[in-house]
Amino acid sequence: MAKRVLGIIGGSGVYDIDGLEWAEWQRVVTPFGAPSDELLFGRYAGVDMVFLPRHGRGHVQTPSTINYRANIDAMKRAGVTDIISISACGSLKEELPPGTFVIVDQFIDRTFLRQNTFFGPGLVAHVPMAHPVCPALATALEEAATAENIRHARGGTYICIEGPQFSTLAESRLYRQWGCSVIGMTAATEAKLAREAEIPYALVAMVTDYDCWHPDHEHVTVDAVIKVLHENAANARKIVTAVAERLGPERKPSPLGVETVLDVAIMTAPDK
Ligand code: ADE
Repeated sequence: MAKRVLGIIGGSGVYDIDGLEWAEWQRVVTPFGAPSDELLFGRYAGVDMVFLPRHGRGHVQTPSTINYRANIDAMKRAGVTDIISISACGSLKEELPPGTFVIVDQFIDRTFLRQNTFFGPGLVAHVPMAHPVCPALATALEEAATAENIRHARGGTYICIEGPQFSTLAESRLYRQWGCSVIGMTAATEAKLAREAEIPYALVAMVTDYDCWHPDHEHVTVDAVIKVLHENAANARKIVTAVAERLGPERKPSPLGVETVLDVAIMTAPDK
């Protein structure tokens, strides 16, 4: 079996991970520019880990200015074989209150201001995205959440908006009609690029608010998000270490064949 290098992308409120056997921040250079921050290399329970804070330490990148291509490319260069992403989100369903960790399995991408592909003129590729989340990673996350007694839900659709503004009431209601479970501003772009980089990806969407549709809850504000983020941060740390223990240092290929997805995705003729 092949060796696992577990990549963790931390969202708002999750700017490092603790308990690593050794830990060192290192700069990784990419042809796409600078990642959001240095990468934290270390080992936990025998598993090589690479952590990247999505917005940078100090939260300096907006959802639209994050260099997602550099972030995913830096992980690839660091040898990452699997990515678990952690991201704050709003809830679009009554039964997913703040504090719930949603292990999503689908995305709707409504972003329009960011680069979401490594390909382009001269090298055209179309990777399949029907199943954007690796079920093996999602199962490990579900088991980890159960073991750590973290309120969670398996499955659900994450709608990714461009932001940085939160949604209007009409938008929030529309997304609910579409059957979406949670709303955020970052993860769909990562999921697409991870697929193009042939890295299996799973997301834990940590609910911080009910967006603005809920008649009995205040409309989302940054203050409210930050307050719940701090409450969620301890659980985020627990799920990261528990999932590393569960996955272990050896890996099997993803059931979706993500590691070889480009074999059948490139349209451009080899001599062009
Ligand atoms: N991140 C946290 N809460 C959110 C919301 N309601 N909409 C978009 N992104 C969010």
